[in-house]
Amino acid sequence: MRITLIFSIIYCATLGCDSTIKKDEPTTVDRNKELVGNYESGKTLFTTYCRACHFPPESKHGHNYAFHNLFDRLPQPAEKYLMDFLKNSKALRDSGDKYALELDKYWPHNEYEHKFADSLTTSQLSDLFFYIKVGVRLNSNSK
Ligand code: HEC
Repeated sequence: MRITLIFSIIYCATLGCDSTIKKDEPTTVDRNKELVGNYESGKTLFTTYCRACHFPPESKHGHNYAFHNLFDRLPQPAEKYLMDFLKNSKALRDSGDKYALELDKYWPHNEYEHKFADSLTTSQLSDLFFYIKVGVRLNSNSK
């Protein structure tokens, strides 16, 4: 049941629920397999690199939930911003970035800096974002 839900959310979130397939395009099944692969890879990366401090995006967590509306809240384009933030949050703040400075004020007793520039590739970060986006949807659908 849950897998079916994840599957259809991934499908609708990326391809649109009513998309039609043209002959020379990859089949929906192939595309879906690929997306499930991205999702699973993102989930594994999250468990490895983020879970120690963050609740998974699909978990229900009220106040201060880091992923709530994340991609709408962040300075746009959000994906690029989050890549810079996760690669080196201190560098972003030191550059005078307003959002990063506000975040730091909001969590005044936290010395932690996100510094994944050497441990996560751009493609891994994309998988991670995909997982977070689907997770946030699952979360809001399950209210
Ligand atoms: C050692 C703890 C720790 C780890 C590991 C960690 N974070 Fe964070 N994260 C924090 C803290 C603390 C904050 C609050 C802001 C700050 O101090 O930077 C935060 C803030 C964030 C925010 C900003 C939320 C907002 O409201 O704008 C995002 C997004 C985020 N983390 C994603 C991640 C992801 C994705 C990973 C894994 C690749 C990760 N974090 C790993 C501790 C952590």
